[in-house]
Amino acid sequence: MTITFVGHGYVGLVTACVFADFGNDVFVIGHTPSKIDRLKNGDPIIYEPGLKELLEKNLKAGRLHFTLDYKEAIAASKIVFIAVGTPPKENGEADLSIVFEVAEKIAKNLKGDFTVVSCKSTVPVGTNKKIEAILYQYKNPNAEVAIASCPEFLREGTAIYDTLNADRVVIGSSSQKAIDLLIELHKPINGKRIITDLASAELIKYTSNAMLATKISFANLISFYCEKTGADVETVLDAVGIDKRIGRIFMNPGVGYGGSCLPKDVMALINIGKNLGIDPGFLEAIEKVNLQTRKNFLAKILENTNEKNIAIWGLSFKPDTDDIRFASSLYLIEKLLGNGFKINVYDPAAMENVRKTFGDKINYSKDPYEAVKNVSSLAILTEWNEFKQIDLLKVKRLMKCPLIFDGRNIYPTDTVKALGFKYFSIGRQPVK
Ligand code: UDX
Repeated sequence: MTITFVGHGYVGLVTACVFADFGNDVFVIGHTPSKIDRLKNGDPIIYEPGLKELLEKNLKAGRLHFTLDYKEAIAASKIVFIAVGTPPKENGEADLSIVFEVAEKIAKNLKGDFTVVSCKSTVPVGTNKKIEAILYQYKNPNAEVAIASCPEFLREGTAIYDTLNADRVVIGSSSQKAIDLLIELHKPINGKRIITDLASAELIKYTSNAMLATKISFANLISFYCEKTGADVETVLDAVGIDKRIGRIFMNPGVGYGGSCLPKDVMALINIGKNLGIDPGFLEAIEKVNLQTRKNFLAKILENTNEKNIAIWGLSFKPDTDDIRFASSLYLIEKLLGNGFKINVYDPAAMENVRKTFGDKINYSKDPYEAVKNVSSLAILTEWNEFKQIDLLKVKRLMKCPLIFDGRNIYPTDTVKALGFKYFSIGRQPVK
């Protein structure tokens, strides 16, 4: 099948590469010439494990075509996916301007044959109806088109695996022809099929991300109770999570959720609720706890350090990505700089992105050991594997004071205690 993706971010590029790998002919439309050139040369721009190899393989096979031009791609495609960004505006509302702009361009290039326009961007309920209206307003009267919502649930860091092994493939449309085509395209993908209407498909995505954020904020809230009462958050959540109705997965306390989806989608769902006359107080509380988690971590550092120089390990919003959108590292670095701290940072993938924000206000280290040399404390913000079994004795020797603030609970308390560290983690009793 010939298909098109408009947008080449985590969703657009990964899904395009996966469908090309199945043997489809795939166009990917972008709007920045330099980025399209890089993609044509096999550079995925973003860091995602396995993506470069998949991109190179399918470019070589001639199944992937990167372009700035809608004309050829849209006319040739049976399915056109919209996979562009919907960043939050100041008030939390999703900014849909790019989605609508793209819909108009698609409409103007539709030819006579039946085409499905399928939205993968996360958009508020009702948006696909607006896209449909735009398609009808600008298309050639002879062109046959139908709209579908096909939300994406991939996680950064495991995006290719998630695309191949989806928990569910959601297809929302009122057109049976569109549904049939999308079912056909998704045949090689594992996962339960949910065929539904547009509004339900749109809401499924927001509900999933809001539920994930709920689990994290709940775990973080309980960690506050543990710290005040002497309870141990891991023991509490392990016991609670044994109950199959609750589950332990995705309930790890830390320095809060970040990334391009959870923060943005909770904000957007709050906004959607307000517009519908629904009190979104529950969702607002999830956000409030997320921010409180970061504030508490900062307070721990400020209260327990005498000298203002610190190393930070982990800058990306989670491991195996270079993405720093809404990462807790950005909040922490800004606040620590504001408090006069000298900061050394290390991250295996995200340093260049952080450099774009903080420039030479902080020091960038080539490895975790260099970062801790002569510093009085270390803060761990992302649980990259390479920190988990690092030589802690060497770390201790290099540091001026053996003091760790672990925002991801990656070390057993007993281990760091035996090595002679002072250790503050999340929802567990400190080692002083
Ligand atoms: C998320 C959803 O998981 C995915 O289904 C959706 O399509 C896009 O948004 P992603 O943003 O890649 O994926 O990251 P995710 O793995 O969900 O983690 C989000 C944030 O939550 C990270 O900052 C992570 O560190 C944090 N997190 C996650 C916790 O603090 N505790 C947990 O138990 C799990």
